[in-house]
Amino acid sequence: MDARPKYISLGPFVPWLQLPKPISWDQVFGRSGPLILEIGFGRGEYLVRQALESPSDNFVGIEIGWISIRKLLRAIARQGIENIRVIQADARVALEWLFPQRSLAMIYSLFPCPWPKKRHHKHRLFSRDFLRLANSRLQVGGELMVVTDHQGYFQWILEQSQRTGFISRVERTGPIFETKYEKKWTELGQREFFQLVFKKVEHIDIPQREEISLNTHKVPEFCPDKLTLKGHKDGAVVEFKETLYDPDRQKAMIRALVVEGALRQDFWVQVVKRGDHWLIGPAKGCSLVPTLGVQKALDLVFEAISSQKSQKRG
Ligand SMILES: C[S@@+](CC[C@H](N)C(=O)[O-])C[C@H]1O[C@@H](n2cnc3c(N)ncnc32)[C@H](O)[C@@H]1O
Repeated sequence: MDARPKYISLGPFVPWLQLPKPISWDQVFGRSGPLILEIGFGRGEYLVRQALESPSDNFVGIEIGWISIRKLLRAIARQGIENIRVIQADARVALEWLFPQRSLAMIYSLFPCPWPKKRHHKHRLFSRDFLRLANSRLQVGGELMVVTDHQGYFQWILEQSQRTGFISRVERTGPIFETKYEKKWTELGQREFFQLVFKKVEHIDIPQREEISLNTHKVPEFCPDKLTLKGHKDGAVVEFKETLYDPDRQKAMIRALVVEGALRQDFWVQVVKRGDHWLIGPAKGCSLVPTLGVQKALDLVFEAISSQKSQKRG
């Protein structure tokens, strides 16, 4: 076996955390063209075929799994494809933050996870809220297509689609997409799948989420041994996980988890001695989206350290 590391070209991989949001897709592709999005591309077989068949369209693939992304990046490099870009993110976060309203010509998703158990329905992606978000990011006349093997999920999505600004078309389709999951179900004997096509007829306004400028804090005194941090649960959920302190560098690192809707950010807050004061801010090296929840985490650290001072006085 060849044990040498295999390098892949990260050219089509979009480091969205580091880019201004929403993303300027024309700039990312170096040209303008209809923008088409595949959610949960898996091994990317269909995305690659579509991109080869429509060279003047700009395709974006979104996945949460790195193994899938790596496979797609290899396929893109092998076949010299120039019109695919890849994002690693939850589709809900990507649509909220990375795509302006009315920017997409088409969105599709093949065999999305059906979460068949009732108690897991909350994890299903194509909920009413998500359909409304997809609507706002599509151009009028644009389409969202979902293909599923699961009748229960198909019916559930149809129910969710009420008042989402779409008209729906429902079809039965044979195995025509040639993806891993389609092959899996076909091999198990399923010959027909459910295809839902939602055409946007009315716009739903869901404004682009915006980054904020984070305010850092200064405190005159800090006692790392006595730090007691409390989380927060209103709007953004903020939890503090652990604190590390290096007395030689006079630097504390506090791990924070901030959850705002589908956006889940796990990062470090640093408290570092600078001259006669301590500075509280996000630690260097952590990629994050600056949000109100992140600001709340910084504020909570500031409040906890400031209350040490008043406790000492009292
Ligand atoms: C059942 S697989 C189908 C893969 C592929 N479309 C196929 O037909 O073979 C579902 C895929 O969606 C991805 N996925 C699940 N939830 C997602 C989300 N919220 N955002 C982006 N991708 C997601 C998973 O990582 C997985 O690769």
